[in-house]
Amino acid sequence: MKSVTRLCHTKSIVTVNGQFPGPSIVAREGDRLLIRVINRVPNNVTIHWHGIRQIRNGWADGPAYITQCPIQTGQSYVYNYTIVGQRGTLFWHAHISWLRATLYGALIILPKHLSFYPFPKPYKDVPLIFGEWFNGDIEAMINRATLTGGGPDVSDAYTINGLPGPLYSCSSKQTFKLKVREGKTYLLRLINAALNDQLFFSIADHTLTVVEVDAVYVKPFDTQTLVIAPGQTTNILLTTKPDFPHAIYFMTARPYVTGLANFDNSAVAGILEYASPSNPHHQALRMKNLPFLKPTLPDLYDTGFVTEFTAKLRSLATPQFPAKVPQKVDSKFYLTIGLGTSSCNSRDKTCQGPNGAKYAASINNVSFVQPTRALLQAHFTGQSKGVYNPNFPTSPPESFDYTGNPPSNTFVTSGTKLIVLPYKTSVEVVMQDTSILGAESHPLHLHGFNFFVVGQGFGNFNADKDPGYFNLVDPVERNTVGVPVGGWVAIRFLADNPGVWFMHCHYEVHTSWGLEMAWLVLDGKHPNEKMLPPPPDLPKC
Ligand code: C2O
Repeated sequence: MKSVTRLCHTKSIVTVNGQFPGPSIVAREGDRLLIRVINRVPNNVTIHWHGIRQIRNGWADGPAYITQCPIQTGQSYVYNYTIVGQRGTLFWHAHISWLRATLYGALIILPKHLSFYPFPKPYKDVPLIFGEWFNGDIEAMINRATLTGGGPDVSDAYTINGLPGPLYSCSSKQTFKLKVREGKTYLLRLINAALNDQLFFSIADHTLTVVEVDAVYVKPFDTQTLVIAPGQTTNILLTTKPDFPHAIYFMTARPYVTGLANFDNSAVAGILEYASPSNPHHQALRMKNLPFLKPTLPDLYDTGFVTEFTAKLRSLATPQFPAKVPQKVDSKFYLTIGLGTSSCNSRDKTCQGPNGAKYAASINNVSFVQPTRALLQAHFTGQSKGVYNPNFPTSPPESFDYTGNPPSNTFVTSGTKLIVLPYKTSVEVVMQDTSILGAESHPLHLHGFNFFVVGQGFGNFNADKDPGYFNLVDPVERNTVGVPVGGWVAIRFLADNPGVWFMHCHYEVHTSWGLEMAWLVLDGKHPNEKMLPPPPDLPKC
């Protein structure tokens, strides 16, 4: 725990090693990491290494009650894993309740020794992590919201590296400053660790070259502005001006909004500041007269921008960095993603969600119920009875116009259900947004795999026509994708990693409402196709 002040509010927050944001972990492709997490707070804790594939080793993945029981107060657990075939920017965060609001940090994987980036070596490398700050006690707030069935509070500020910046009152001293020199190229590692908001980001009067997303290289392209969803990372090259400019530049981020719910409509700003040349005249100028330039961000609701931007993301697809897109598919799944309601448990009271019910969210109308024992242990020890069912629906239980007028019955069902996949099944999943409580873009994150985003569109997916337009050559490969608002997205992956793998909306509010499920990938025949045994210190429930 640590006492932190933001926006003139001081509170005690859960931190790693007293740091907020938490420490950056810098490793190289091929490294084995041993990270001991010692729980010294009253809360149960787990840590997830978001985007790390954890081959055959779900024990180190981290989602609470999915791959492990929480680390309880006073206990410790060593996350022990090797980074195989991945390099780039990822992040780590708590994966229990809403603790990731303050428990997060960068996870940077450098290329192997003596191998290189597929772009010129940057002069410097700087992580920029977006977060959300709440003045109040977040755990108390989400517990209250869960009881009443209403929507949780929205944040009070967005942050860059934990700092809200000068656009908030009482906050100008807490501003992230990126000090740069003229004529250099910087690698900025953008990470969206915000809880509930996709963000637009731009730097005034500078061009951003996108070179990587979710720790996979992409074909470079230039843009003034980008959009990044919670759970996504984006590496950009920023080339500074050749001569000392007589200005100070803002970099700002604010949300891209699609749902009907309340949202934090503020903006975080950081400052891009050119180091003054040795000339003292310049120094004086810098102190006094330099104008501030602000970038122009898209409208809060600019889905057109988001569609255009995401269409530009393509895998590098070179011999050295091939795009291994599954060309044939063994199993197809059609999953509806969206909000709904569940009944208010208390008999004489009404809940604070829609129509006196509780907010719920579901995939194929199943709202996920968090088990009290971890799914991965239950599977590995053959004791799944009473913990989960392997009967998750592979298509919507009822077909209707998913993106049209909402049905009158908005109730979801609930359960702890999985889809079972034999080892090395080639999988296609179409995720279809629903407009049941208003259409909304959902950033879906899959643990244990990267997937290829082979197609997307608006309205209802058409299984006869739409696959004809799939990109099976150089689609972007990633671990988190925004299901378009009122639309669908198609992904493919090869289920070559045995274990239990969580898939969920990376909006924490939707995870709380049940917008998640898990895949169970069975062992293959050969010894190196089977799950590793659990480590001896694996926490118990
Ligand atoms: Cu970054 Cu399951 O989450």
